[in-house]
Amino acid sequence: MEKINFIELFILTVWLMLPVWLANMSPAIAGSAFKNFSPLDFGKSIGSQRILGDGKTFEGLLTGIVIGAIIATIELYFSKQLNMPSYSLIAIITMPAGALFGDLIASFLKRRLDIKRGSALPIIDQLDFVIGAWLLTIIFDYNWYVNHFTIPVIMFTLVITGIFHFIFNVIGYKIGVCNEPW
Ligand code: CTP
Ligand code: MG
Repeated sequence: MEKINFIELFILTVWLMLPVWLANMSPAIAGSAFKNFSPLDFGKSIGSQRILGDGKTFEGLLTGIVIGAIIATIELYFSKQLNMPSYSLIAIITMPAGALFGDLIASFLKRRLDIKRGSALPIIDQLDFVIGAWLLTIIFDYNWYVNHFTIPVIMFTLVITGIFHFIFNVIGYKIGVCNEPW
C-alpha cells in the first residue's frame, strides 16, 4: 500500500471540494446582502411548519449553483498548469447543484421534524450539501466521481468539511451573515 502524504491529500481535497464549499456558502452571503429573496416554497406550509422555510430561496439556489460552477470552471482552466485534477463538464454542474439540492432536502426534513429555520440539526447541517453533491455527481458522472473521490479523499473531505464549517459559521455569525453560530 502506498504511503499517504497528508499535505498532498489536504491540497487535493480542498481543490476538489472548493466549488462545493463556496456553492454552499455564497447563498448565506448573498442572502444577508439582499434581504428580499423569494422563498422556494412560496411561503406555503405542510401542517404547522413551512415546506422549506424562508432560508431556502430562488435567488440563493441560483447564486450557489452559479458561484460553484464558476469556481469549478476557473479550476478547470488552471488545472493543467498546476498539475491538479479538473472537474468534468458534468461535474461542474452536478457538484454545486447537488450541494444546493442536498441542503434543500435537509431543510425539508428539518421542517418535518418541527425544527425551525436556522435551528441546528447537527451532522445533517454540516454534511447535507456534501452528500448531495456526491450523490448527484455519482448519478450523472459515476466515472469522474470514482476516479477522484478515493476513500482517503472521502474521509478527508468529511473531516475537513466539519472543521471548516464550524470555523466559517462562527466567523459568519460574528460578521452577521449567519443567524446562529452553527
Ligand atoms: N440561502 C438561500 N437559499 C438557499 C440556501 C440558503 O437564500 N437555497 C440563504 C438564506 O439566507 C439562509 C442562508 O443562506 O438563511 C444560510 O443557509 P442555511 O444555513 O442552509 O439556512 P438556514 O437559515 O439555517 O435554514 P434551515 O434551518 O432551513 O437550514
Ligand atoms: Mg442552517
